[in-house]
Amino acid sequence: MTTFPDDFLWGTATAAYQVEGAWNEDGRGPSIWDTFSHTPGLVTGGDTGDLACDHYHRLEEDLDLLAALGVGAYRFSISWPRVLPGGGDRVNQAGLDFYRRLVDGLLTRNIAPVATLYHWDLPQELEDAGGWPNRDTAYRFAEYARQTGEALGDGVRTWITLNEPWCSAYLGYGSGVHAPGRTDPAAALAAVHHLNLGHGLAARALREVVDPAAQVSVTLNLHHARGVSEQDAEAVRRVDALANRAFLGPMLDGAYPRDLIDDTASVTDWSFVKDGDEATAAAPIEVLGVNYYNPILVRQWDGTSARDTADGHADGAASPWINCADVEFVQQPGPYTEMGWNIDETGLTELLLRLRRDYPSLPVMITENGAAFPDEVSADGRVHDDDRIDYLRRHLTAVAEAIEGGADVRGYFLWSLMDNFEWAHGYGKRFGIVRVDRDTMERTWKDSARWYHDVVAANALPA
Ligand code: NOJ
Repeated sequence: MTTFPDDFLWGTATAAYQVEGAWNEDGRGPSIWDTFSHTPGLVTGGDTGDLACDHYHRLEEDLDLLAALGVGAYRFSISWPRVLPGGGDRVNQAGLDFYRRLVDGLLTRNIAPVATLYHWDLPQELEDAGGWPNRDTAYRFAEYARQTGEALGDGVRTWITLNEPWCSAYLGYGSGVHAPGRTDPAAALAAVHHLNLGHGLAARALREVVDPAAQVSVTLNLHHARGVSEQDAEAVRRVDALANRAFLGPMLDGAYPRDLIDDTASVTDWSFVKDGDEATAAAPIEVLGVNYYNPILVRQWDGTSARDTADGHADGAASPWINCADVEFVQQPGPYTEMGWNIDETGLTELLLRLRRDYPSLPVMITENGAAFPDEVSADGRVHDDDRIDYLRRHLTAVAEAIEGGADVRGYFLWSLMDNFEWAHGYGKRFGIVRVDRDTMERTWKDSARWYHDVVAANALPA
């Protein structure tokens, strides 16, 4: 039987725009995702987060759901435009009150609140002023962190500044498949820097106002990149610089990697990095959040053969891989999830062991892992999602192996508690262990939810 450490934290995760709805209620201001999803053609099926899972109005029911699952922690995100509708100083008390009810509701149920400050819903006013490529956004973010920390700092156990800044920068400003939908490589790299800076400023601001026992963290979607052969080490290095070390460098080592600066010299001179910024970005954190779904496979492209575009961006379209003109993203063998992502848990073990090697004293939390599957409702009214259970079993075994190998993994947050708005894919991709009926909003446990309940209760995988 595979068991986990005694104090291992089991949780589920969601994000504000993906589940809350109530997009224009109680004083919430518009975010870049409202603008993006309301623009025809940008989200599959014209779906929006206007209603999402109606979590804003079903808070008590969802809290009870978490309690019934038996999890010890819940990772949610706070909507910046719900708290500060214009991104600036005007606080919306009704917004803070909602999160107060959420935090208190978790605490009374003995569930540790893990709050992400930025899960992609930038207030539209800040985007109009330049968005993340604009330095001022980093300072606004720190101010938002302070306001939120003051209001909720006595209850939140772990603060996560940013969720997947890779996506915010490269998908938001590089390939444009995420809000705000810009396709400007230089802007994407400026966004990388201002996200790193914003993280450091926010971490420091939080530290001054929240419970001293609270942890400060950041969640990165580190890409576990492998080369097709040994000749592809250069391709792996480039991808690793752009996707991983562009964040790990400033946040944990206090400096951008030299090779990243060199690789991107034709795009930017990095003059937006001011003296002291890298030291600011390297604010101490207690734990690193890692989101993992699948590894990637790359090879050196010879420039002539038809190019594999397995990273999901169409050939000829703007690429999020700014420094990778000569890198090919190779289709990997299946099985695949509904997202087209290959299932390979060995990448998770390898990634955790790499972090152990590179940052031996930094504990890690898996802040997201999970899978989308078709999830048909059977004649018995249930969802027999054995494929998801298999995915979860594999990945939890991979986590246990990494722990066995010396990795200091403190917890695991399953993505996601319930089916929700999967960004540009809309509601068609279901990641939940609880099904949400799009017509009635009814929540129904899938088999995976029952399975996860038992795993949490046993602190072990069933034999
Ligand atoms: C990462 C993101 O943080 C989350 O919002 C998204 O739904 C999942 N991955 C699945 O794509």
